[in-house]
This record gives sequence, structure tokens and C-alpha cells, in this order.
Amino acid sequence: MKIISILQPDDWHLHLREGYMLDAVVQYSSKIFSRCIAMPNLTLPITSSKIAKDYKKEIQLKSSSKNFEAFIPCYLTDDIDLNEFSKGLKNSSFFGAKFYPIKATTNSSYGISDIEKLYPALEILEENNSPLLIHGEKISPDIDIFDREKYFIDDELQNILKRFNNLKIVLEHVSSEYGADFITESGPNIAATVTIHHLTLTKKDVFNGKINPHNYCMPVVKNEQDLVSLRKHVCSGNKKFFLGTDSAPHDVKDKESTHNIKAGIFSAPVAIEMYASVFEEEDKIHNLEKFSSINGADFYDLPHNSHTIKLKKDEWINPEFTSYNGVKIKNFMGGKKINWKVV
Ligand code: NCD
Ligand code: ZN
Repeated sequence: MKIISILQPDDWHLHLREGYMLDAVVQYSSKIFSRCIAMPNLTLPITSSKIAKDYKKEIQLKSSSKNFEAFIPCYLTDDIDLNEFSKGLKNSSFFGAKFYPIKATTNSSYGISDIEKLYPALEILEENNSPLLIHGEKISPDIDIFDREKYFIDDELQNILKRFNNLKIVLEHVSSEYGADFITESGPNIAATVTIHHLTLTKKDVFNGKINPHNYCMPVVKNEQDLVSLRKHVCSGNKKFFLGTDSAPHDVKDKESTHNIKAGIFSAPVAIEMYASVFEEEDKIHNLEKFSSINGADFYDLPHNSHTIKLKKDEWINPEFTSYNGVKIKNFMGGKKINWKVV
């Protein structure tokens, strides 16, 4: 039986939510991953060091492993308090900052309405050598939903890069061939996280006669050609690409709603196993550890984890739902066969 051993992985893009939802989901990440970036798009966005510290503590308290560490970026808004922001970076309450364009995705109604409004905060990030994490989609009635990433790169990201030469940037959940090529061809200060669903789904899995709400996420999954290209970049071991599940749980009621389907896919219970399958399918399993456990830490100037985990080639069926205390979440790959198992 095939067994591989890798340094313990980190999840550099994760939604853990709060309250009952946090209770229901945190164990899946904390039992596998060592560290995570817990996204700040809570019902009320995380914009102060106090809220960030409290959230970090709440996550730690509810985790199955006491060593699981969450880093919390500050949620950037148009009217962010720059003193508070700077203070939070200096005392490490904030791990950099997250830029959501307004109304781009779940809980982004407090996001940035105009890129120029972002610049004072970016100066502060650059001075502090702290990273900017970007939801890279340009939202406009004229822009096709499948082209949002490309337009964001051409119209906004390029301007940020020109203006802030030394800023460290992560293009989160890169989803297109255009985006992945852009990352590979750009300088060393810019990298990207890649989700498991963008490596395994295409738009046919979401829009096919009727919408499958459980595969609906932002950025939407794209064409076969995009998937092939993402796999090529990621599986090559390129240090600019690292693991970020974007695991984003929603209650089934919000996913199956007829008027407003919430975007997000809950992949935490099968994430490392499914990434292993992708690397295996591409004949690149020897590069899994770079992607899952090394490239991200190196980009963020953090030490590598010291423990290892083992994955065994062994089939099991992922339960269809995660249910806990009245919360019910549809699992990514729910009811389906998974080929790897953490031992
Ligand atoms: C995320 C969520 O639900 O918070 N949704 C998603 O579709 N990925 C937000 C995000 O990362 O866009
Ligand atoms: Zn996300």
C-alpha cells in the first residue's frame, strides 16, 4: 500500500466563520493543518486589533489541536482607521490585510469601492513589510463573470504593482490560465493560492441546464483549459503557488435558496487528500509537499513546520453533509469516493 509522508501542511486561505458554524468546521482544519490564514469577512468585518485578537483566541479555544494557529488579516474598507491599522500590524494582531472589491463575494459589502481609496493602507503595508491578500475580481455590469479575474489584473493589479514596488501580494484563489501565467511571469513579490475546487471542477459542474449551487463559488470555476493550466503551474512545484483551500462553509439553506445563492464551497474535510489525488494524477506527487507545506511559509518568511503527516492510498466515502448543533453543510465531494486518507 502506498504511503507518503509530508511536512505538516498550512492552509493559507480559509473561512472558519464564527459561533456555531466555527464550532462545526474548525476541527477539520485544525486536525490536519498547522497554521491557517482565517479570512476576516465575518458578518461584521475584522477591522480592529481587538476583534482580530479575540477571533484568534476563539479559534484556538475551539480547535482540536492546541497548536493550530490562525493568522488574521485586517479587512480593508474605504474608511479604514489608518492609525488602528498601523498599530495592529505593528503589534502582530493583523497578519497583513485583505482587499475585497465591494460586492465581489460573500460578506464583501464593506469592501473597497474605488482602488484609489486603498493606497494609503497599501503604503502602510509596504512600510511594515506586511502582505496584501487580494480577492482579484473586477466587478462591473459590463464584465462577464468569467472574465472578472483578467480585468482585475489588467485594470487594477497592474496599477498596484507599478505604484508599490516592494509590496508583497498574494492573488488569492487564482482561477484562470490568464491569472496563473501572470503570476509565473511577474516578479518575486507576487504569489498565489490555489483551491482544490479550481483544480478539479469546470463551469459544466456549476452551470449545466440548471445551477448546482454547491459548486458555486467566487471566483467561479472556469474552462477545461484553465483547469489544465492551473494544474500545470501548481504541480510543477513552482514556489509562487501554494495551498489555500478557500474552504467556505454555508448552511444548506443559504446554498439552496432560490433567490440568493451564497458563494463558497466547504472542502476542509477532504482538502489535503484531494490535493494529493491531483498531484498523483499529474504524476507529480513528489511536488505535493512544496505546494502544501513549503512555498507558502517561504513566501511569508515563516519557518517550516517540524511535524509530518502521512497519507495512505486508501479509498473511503466522504459523508454527504457535516451536521452539528443545527448547522448543516454540504461537503465538497460529499457522497463521493476519496482515494487518499490521512493516517
Ligand atoms: C467566500 C465566503 O463564502 O466567504 N466565498 C467564496 O465563494 N469563495 C469568500 C471568498 O473567498 O470569495
Ligand atoms: Zn475566500
